[in-house]
Amino acid sequence: MTRVSLTINGQPRQFDGDGEMPLLWHLREGAGLKGTKFGCGIGACGACTVHIDGTAARSCSVPMSTLEGANITTIEGLAEGARLHAVQEAWIAEDVAQCGYCQAGQIMAVAAFLKDYPEPTDQDIAENITNLCRCGTYVRVRKAIKRAAK
Ligand code: FES
Repeated sequence: MTRVSLTINGQPRQFDGDGEMPLLWHLREGAGLKGTKFGCGIGACGACTVHIDGTAARSCSVPMSTLEGANITTIEGLAEGARLHAVQEAWIAEDVAQCGYCQAGQIMAVAAFLKDYPEPTDQDIAENITNLCRCGTYVRVRKAIKRAAK
């Protein structure tokens, strides 16, 4: 049994359980935050992307035992009160989503990326935003990233 104290979307939270449990499971089943999605479960697709201390991370591959004191932000906590994050606004303006399944992970990855690349080139985007989208919305994803960066 592992005990971990962490913060999720600004709320203190205590986890008691198997330290090998992936953060994704705790978010969805423990905290009831279903916006973060399961895709591959092996850190390859990015559907489960959240922020850990402000950095994008694939939550299916992060054991709870590593998260003592961590500050987690999920898609549910990205907006500031009633105001959507600039990336969320750009996603809506560019009508990015098709089926929508991967989009929470895409948005979280991009929100972290833009902090390091405030004026990203196509190459920056290609090298850093590696989340997969089975609908192939990549052209709209790139347009939304450029819009959010303005
Ligand atoms: Fe985590 Fe695919 S579900 S990277």
